[in-house]
Amino acid sequence: MKTIIEPFRIKSVEPIYFNTVEERKAILSGAFYNPFLIHSKDVLIDLLTDSGTSAMSSNQWAGIMQGDESYAGSPSFFRFEKTIQDITGMPLVIPTHQGRAAEKILFSIIGGKGKYIISNTLFDTTRANIEFSGAEGVDLICEEGKYPSIPAPFKGNIDTEALENFIKDKGAENIPLCIITITNNSGGGQPVSMQNIREVRRICTAYNIPMFIDACRFAENAYFIKLREEGYANKSIPEIVRELFSYADGCTMSAKKDAFANIGGFLAMHDESLALKCRNLLVITEGFPTYGGLAGRDLEAIAIGLVEVMDEYYLQYRIRSTEYLTNKLIAAGVPVMQPAGGHAVYIDSKAFLPHIPPHQYPGQALVGALYLEGGIRSVEIGSLMFGKYDADGILVPAQMELVRLAIPRRVYTQSHIDYVAEVIIEVFEKRNTIKGLRITEEPAMLRHFTAKLEQL
Ligand code: F0G
Repeated sequence: MKTIIEPFRIKSVEPIYFNTVEERKAILSGAFYNPFLIHSKDVLIDLLTDSGTSAMSSNQWAGIMQGDESYAGSPSFFRFEKTIQDITGMPLVIPTHQGRAAEKILFSIIGGKGKYIISNTLFDTTRANIEFSGAEGVDLICEEGKYPSIPAPFKGNIDTEALENFIKDKGAENIPLCIITITNNSGGGQPVSMQNIREVRRICTAYNIPMFIDACRFAENAYFIKLREEGYANKSIPEIVRELFSYADGCTMSAKKDAFANIGGFLAMHDESLALKCRNLLVITEGFPTYGGLAGRDLEAIAIGLVEVMDEYYLQYRIRSTEYLTNKLIAAGVPVMQPAGGHAVYIDSKAFLPHIPPHQYPGQALVGALYLEGGIRSVEIGSLMFGKYDADGILVPAQMELVRLAIPRRVYTQSHIDYVAEVIIEVFEKRNTIKGLRITEEPAMLRHFTAKLEQL
């Protein structure tokens, strides 16, 4: 088989500014060992996130020029609405400025004290919005999803037995929603199978619990279904996507991922009365229902991106590029989440740095080491992001200590990725010299964004 090439040519470029290890040392300590506090011009390869960092296509830029900025009834909205209706089969479409705004609106309405929202794994902002409403977020990931080094085709699946037991235990009346994250970002970008989605639907219907999809990476998930699930090899991506959404009552989406947009999001659903409540909140928080938190030009870019992302040549290249990096790391003995996820490569920092215990944040220590060695910015998905304190103030660590290298869509070429592999392998060879960290300052919620740390 020949090399799978980037299915695009580059028309416009952005410079990368180079710096030295010595300079990065000062930058890292000045940023308190927190990658979110590093200025982006000081980063060589930015794998902090795949969110809002995509390269837009010439078609999307052309769409931007056609954006109609009318306050009410813009044709850009109707294009956006129709595209989402066609893709999801959901008639009611509510634009928001990004995914978390959709979450905030949804959970302000259905959340609240004493309620539980069930998921495979909630993303951090989703969990925060649930908790902010007073409700509790519950992750019921399948068993194989808990072990980074053991490959399985659908490690993002919900444990359906645990789901049914949880519903029986807490009572369906206390569970206003089950939301499946596709792909499962916080659990390694792993896909959810159609069979699992169908089974969750069956259980939710039996107990009269609405089911939503967190659809940020719906096309990547659909491509994995095509590759790995029996009966889908000959189906087109739009067909798979349509089936996948057909099981859901609604969805939230951040258009900053699988819509190649730099900003945007939406809620879509079938339930008229819920949509009415959402739109009432939308008007006071985001904007009028035909633009939400967005400009007309953003609505155009999203509508075009949502169709572009379902192109199979693109998806083949996309999934291959994360697999390419993952395989290079596996060959060098670096412990990574297996198999490769859709949008990112996840290093298992517990196994990479066994000498650093969870309360010294091995993931964050590795993030620092990768920046120092090669100017690569990554993010910890471990006890800094998800750790909690118990009643005695002792850290309850996260299930896994991962470092995520998220690949922005259509932005980096194969030589960038080769460089990333070289840097990680170099850091792996001197892993014993890496030191743990201590938190010196942290906020009450979403602490990983702004916490300050120092080296031990
Ligand atoms: N759900 C998932 C699964 C996500 O990955 C994100 C964002 C959101 C919801 C929230 O969307 O950022 O538009 O408000 N994930 C980004 C990331 C930030 O880096 O993974 P948003």
